[in-house]
Amino acid sequence: MKLRKLFAITLTGMMLVTAGCGGGGDKKSTAGKESSKKLVMYWGALEDWMVKDIAAFEKETGIKVEAVRMSSGEVIGRIKAEKANPKASLWFGGPADGQIQAKADGLLEKYISPNAEKIPAQFKDPDGYWTGVYVGYLGFASNQQLLKEKGVPAPKSWEDLLKPEFKGQIISANPGSSGTAYTMLATIVQMKGEQAGLEYMAALDKQMKNYQKSGTAPARLAGQGECMVGITFLHDAIKYREEGMKDLVLTAPSEGTGYEIGAVSLIKGGPDQENAKKFIDWCLTKKAQEIGQTVGSYQFLTNPEATPPQQAAELNNTKLVKYDFAWAGQNRSALVEKWNKAIKA
Ligand code: F6P
Repeated sequence: MKLRKLFAITLTGMMLVTAGCGGGGDKKSTAGKESSKKLVMYWGALEDWMVKDIAAFEKETGIKVEAVRMSSGEVIGRIKAEKANPKASLWFGGPADGQIQAKADGLLEKYISPNAEKIPAQFKDPDGYWTGVYVGYLGFASNQQLLKEKGVPAPKSWEDLLKPEFKGQIISANPGSSGTAYTMLATIVQMKGEQAGLEYMAALDKQMKNYQKSGTAPARLAGQGECMVGITFLHDAIKYREEGMKDLVLTAPSEGTGYEIGAVSLIKGGPDQENAKKFIDWCLTKKAQEIGQTVGSYQFLTNPEATPPQQAAELNNTKLVKYDFAWAGQNRSALVEKWNKAIKA
């Protein structure tokens, strides 16, 4: 109950202050930032993982963490608004696309952790501005009961989503706020080209029941019977199914699907840079990467020594597109704007 209340607070965008964190640095120290025992971070993955990671990091380092959970677009908006006076030093999670945009906008600081050596090159920025921590695949989470009632099979392709039986029955997040939904938009445009991709998104818009702020919501809402299909990262649907939403059935588009590299990065000019670097070092270790799966975060992991969650194994044969992260990140704002225009047209 207490924990749920905590999550409700973070969801409204307020700061989560973990137990014992009084704000400010080490009282005995006069050396300022470098010896501070505090770290403020923005968190793009799920809240229960955030709470677990923070507890483990605090226990190991004595550094007290303040964190707030936000979707990718919200984090970018926040760190842009705070550029002159950054409040947070670290951004953890959410697809790397967002961090690539933040790098291009001059909002990140380069940091190559010694522990990044173990992370394969395809999961990290060649210039050292972000490092991948996890990988997730995009797909469809459908409600089996609702599908059965209408006598329709779960969608197995992007084209299936345009079928009349799914009209008003699909929920996605909004690509402007959500890293998940932006991954979908960038996937479609990379697969089809800009014009055909935006035409497809406009047609898909006509099938939508609504758009959510966060990318984890569509799977949950499909599980609750609010819609037939939620477009989501499939590991989130596995979590909700395991937590009791037994009607959820997972499919991935036969044309191929996009994927995320969930990344960590250092925010430029943040107040706790040294502690943020310590967190980056820590979250790349085998031990830290294995924490998420203890609370239902079933992404694949980037540290080859870490044991991936066995729940992710059902996604092993998913057909992936050759997702261009650099392109997706650099074109994020422009593409979201074009999408907004396309669905209003
Ligand atoms: O933690 C769940 C998760 O799906 C991550 O894998 C992903 O990086 C993040 O949420 C995306 O959240 P949003 O779509 O709200 O930006």
